[in-house]
Amino acid sequence: MASERRALAASSPRRPEALLGWMESLADPTRLRQLRLLERHELGVAELCDILQLPQSTVSRHLKVLADEGWVRSRAQGTTNLYRMDIGEADPAARRLWTLTREQTDDWATVAQDQLRLTRRLAEREPNQGFFAGAAGRWDRLREELYGKTFTQEAFLGLLPAEWIVADLGCGTGQVTEALAPHVRRVVGVDQSAAMLKAARRRTAGLDNVELKQGSLEALPLAAGTCDGGLLLLALTYVEDPAAVLGEAARVLRAGGRLVVTDLLRHDREEFRREMGQLRLGFDPREMERLLVAAGLDDVRVRPLAPDPEAKGPALLLATATRNPRIVRRT
Ligand SMILES: C[S@@+](CC[C@H](N)C(=O)[O-])C[C@H]1O[C@@H](n2cnc3c(N)ncnc32)[C@H](O)[C@@H]1O
Repeated sequence: MASERRALAASSPRRPEALLGWMESLADPTRLRQLRLLERHELGVAELCDILQLPQSTVSRHLKVLADEGWVRSRAQGTTNLYRMDIGEADPAARRLWTLTREQTDDWATVAQDQLRLTRRLAEREPNQGFFAGAAGRWDRLREELYGKTFTQEAFLGLLPAEWIVADLGCGTGQVTEALAPHVRRVVGVDQSAAMLKAARRRTAGLDNVELKQGSLEALPLAAGTCDGGLLLLALTYVEDPAAVLGEAARVLRAGGRLVVTDLLRHDREEFRREMGQLRLGFDPREMERLLVAAGLDDVRVRPLAPDPEAKGPALLLATATRNPRIVRRT
């Protein structure tokens, strides 16, 4: 039966065993994700492992099933094999099955996350080609080797107005609070967890412009209009009512003050959510935009972030917004 099914082109849709073979090979989330990546790009196993965040043995095992069934082809390049989907000459019924499968996976959050990691991985290929060949191609790596990663963040922080008061909302162990402190007048960290605040206190002990407050994001222990900037980093997936929290964040900003939200993009990794104690599977960018507008914020911009090559979690989004100077709130 395996050899009968081997090539999609040789199969007849009227033979049930051919149809069963196609469906069996498609009936797996990892293989569907692989096909969605390989239908437009030729990729190596290492690239697929990186994009799918799966070990090589798993990726190779599923590729073999797809290759046996004729969905993908491979060719050798140097020491590696490159794979791509190729159903140009496949049985029309197999192609229709794939069209249906494509349609049904279009709104799958996992596929959207994979596409983000694919874009980043493809961009990493560029240094070896064309314009980027030679010294320019080596610069990014050399820059990191010689000077590390953190100085770029410090340089960006140097753009902050030195007179600002910034609220780090859901500050956790105070990593960001600590990083901000040298660059602004005052940082106020707020968190409900005594354990997190204890770690933040230890971390910021030597900084005299840091204030840490225990309190909830739904009722911030801060007066209205007292902050120039607000940060909500990786906190909103933990709250029951993100709209209420964003409304509170907007309340404490002065007119023209800036809010920055970074959180998980919508994803399907239920196990990740369970292990991290989050209440929701991330946010869709349009949903985040609506929430920020509803909170009375202006100049709302939301965009997916290019995933960090070493990050194992879901991809993130970045949202920025300004407190509308025209809104007069009664508090
Ligand atoms: C994943 S941590 C992120 C911490 C920090 N922002 C960071 O980027 O490292 C989320 C933090 O939000 C806090 N948090 C969650 N829900 C909260 C709420 N309703 N009120 C106050 N803090 C909350 C948690 O205690 C936790 O410290």
